[in-house]
Amino acid sequence: MGLVYPLPTQKTAVRGKEINLENYLMKTVLVVGGGGREHAIVDALNRSPQVGKIYCAPGNAGTGLLAENVPLKDTDVEGLKAFALEHEVDLTVVGPEAALAVGIVDAFRAAGLKIFGHTASATRIESSKEFAKELMAKYGIPTAAYRSFEDFGKALEYVSGRPFPAVIKYDGLAAGKGVVIAQDMEEARAALSDMLLDEAFGKGRVVIEDYLTGPEFSFLCFVEGTNVYPMPLSQDHKRAFDGDKGPNTGGMGAYTGLPFITADDWEFAFREIMCKAAAGMVAEGCPLSGVLYGGLMKTPQGIKVIEFNARFGDPETEVVLPLLESDIFDIFDAVASGREAPAPVWKDAVTLGVVLASKGYPGKYEKGFAISGLDDVKGRVYHMGTAFRDGSLVTNGGRVLMVVGTGADVADARANVYREVAKIACENLFYRNDIAHCALDCHSMLDCHSEQSEGI
Ligand code: AMP
Ligand code: GLY
Repeated sequence: MGLVYPLPTQKTAVRGKEINLENYLMKTVLVVGGGGREHAIVDALNRSPQVGKIYCAPGNAGTGLLAENVPLKDTDVEGLKAFALEHEVDLTVVGPEAALAVGIVDAFRAAGLKIFGHTASATRIESSKEFAKELMAKYGIPTAAYRSFEDFGKALEYVSGRPFPAVIKYDGLAAGKGVVIAQDMEEARAALSDMLLDEAFGKGRVVIEDYLTGPEFSFLCFVEGTNVYPMPLSQDHKRAFDGDKGPNTGGMGAYTGLPFITADDWEFAFREIMCKAAAGMVAEGCPLSGVLYGGLMKTPQGIKVIEFNARFGDPETEVVLPLLESDIFDIFDAVASGREAPAPVWKDAVTLGVVLASKGYPGKYEKGFAISGLDDVKGRVYHMGTAFRDGSLVTNGGRVLMVVGTGADVADARANVYREVAKIACENLFYRNDIAHCALDCHSMLDCHSEQSEGI
């Protein structure tokens, strides 16, 4: 009789401890966060043949279908570290910037745990506008000219001598609330007073920069030191309503396959912005080891940086990761281990995602409305703010679901996704009907941007 291997599910003793062999050979991954972005990360990990168990902390109703949700807050570093040690997690992947900014990566590494994400020091590329601006100035990365201020009077004096609109940015993590495009002196005064005189905002420092125009887009890259692995470009839709009207939101939809970015634009954005930023961070002694997100704008003077983020974008991740053909575990593991990753392979297709949000969002909204029809939807549905109550799915947040469709081109992807969105029934949800209008409905990108600027 030849060698008999134990069946994969058989219990086996390893180092005196009884374990499930399947789990021992397969990797255990913990995803930190609980939005649509994390659902897309869990979904990508779930496609990896190497990944066995996935935990998601805190997760949501959608991640709970693929992973085991763990009731720990994303910033509970000690709790998450203890969980990862106890459950022999092989790799942790961090979604939200707040967890990175409080040093989850530093704490995990100190405990000998492998983690994908930047150190607190490297996260300053997002958490400190001034750090990011200085980095860009030092390494010749194109961005709007700026000055930074702590003093209310000096800041006001500077704004009064400059053309409007004035772009006023709070220097710190402000969960998307830290940028004010002031149209006149009155709006500028109100914003500066909020940011520099109101204790609730914290430290009190602002960056004031020139107002740029042009279509915006998101360039996400996996970065390990000077190794930069680009993901497909995408475009977010920040305003709540069609035609880019209404208040700013966390993002109402996104798509890939941007027609207004030429091969030369891409090359410039990759080499002169993303690679230079990665090299600059290495030179500054705080190398990147996660995702670098370039919030870029194609201005009449060329592509410039609006902001850098130190994490996957939301809702961009939900349209980008479904295109990944490679095993995402290999990429995460290489970046987290400080070694070169295999070059990611992407599908030759286009994705488009539509967010369904609670009526009233981004202002006040109610929760707990029943959602039906999801079983009939073809394509991917990522949960952003849902819960299961008595076995049925209900709304549980501002942004609730994101439906992602695929197509050969943007028009095809758009037709595919809206057909599926129509199958979802819920009395308290709304969505935009014009995702990818910049690509499909504008005569030129300048038209598109002038629509965007209206009402800012
Ligand atoms: P947020 O997502 O809240 O950080 O919003 C940032 C948004 O403010 C960007 O997406 C731009 O639309 C706008 N913005 C920031 N900086 C500038 C700038 N220098 N010129 C024009 N618009 C800007
Ligand atoms: N989509 C905008 C962000 O993730 O910051």
